[in-house]
Amino acid sequence: MLKLESTSGETAPQPHESSFYHNLVPAYQAVWPAVARRRIQGNLTALDIPQGTQVLEVGVGTGMSLEAYPLHANVLGVDLSESMLAEAEALIAKEKWDHIQVRPMNAEKLEFDDASFDLVTSFHTISVVSQPEKMMREMVRVCKPGGRILVINHFRSDNPLIARVVDSAGGITRRLGWRTDLEVNSLLTELPIEVESCHKNNPLSLFRVLVAKRV
Ligand SMILES: C[S@@+](CC[C@H](N)C(=O)[O-])C[C@H]1O[C@@H](n2cnc3c(N)ncnc32)[C@H](O)[C@@H]1O
Repeated sequence: MLKLESTSGETAPQPHESSFYHNLVPAYQAVWPAVARRRIQGNLTALDIPQGTQVLEVGVGTGMSLEAYPLHANVLGVDLSESMLAEAEALIAKEKWDHIQVRPMNAEKLEFDDASFDLVTSFHTISVVSQPEKMMREMVRVCKPGGRILVINHFRSDNPLIARVVDSAGGITRRLGWRTDLEVNSLLTELPIEVESCHKNNPLSLFRVLVAKRV
């Protein structure tokens, strides 16, 4: 069963910001994995995660990414939605993954000391939370110096024409809980990181892969 109390003894935050996902888990499970699983797996595999790596995944959802982590890493996934985490827990139990745990937690207020993890990841979540810059700061804070940060997300296009077209759909996607106008550079200012790459896996992809090193 999920523990709903935080380590500090406070009541864990409720998934008020993720009610869309909370209510639509069955539909989400039917469609989303086919779109995103390969992209997540390819980029995690490319990191060549070393033995004993302590990994934090922020916004782990139903655990779609979890099979891509090697058995020799210790993985903790956090998410605000209990129904998403229940799916992840069922998957972890079914696969008998001793190296993976999940916990309810707010991405904007991570309950960890500074420099707790070697690798901090997040997929398709930073444009869902209400304060993306705060979430990014938290991800950087809990990453050890020399550790890495991997974010896969849709960001506003650098091409003004494409950006304007996508912006015009923003009213609809916002009602679904996503924003389409998040600029990747707005996340990166004044943070103790070196961006190693920020690329698309193919030119037509809507998603960018940001890999950064904590300095
Ligand atoms: C689009 S889903 C992505 C889930 C998963 N990473 C994937 O790629 O399938 C966004 C996730 O962010 C979670 N979420 C939204 N706001 C959050 C917050 N403030 N803190 C933690 N998780 C949050 C939602 O519950 C949901 O699981």
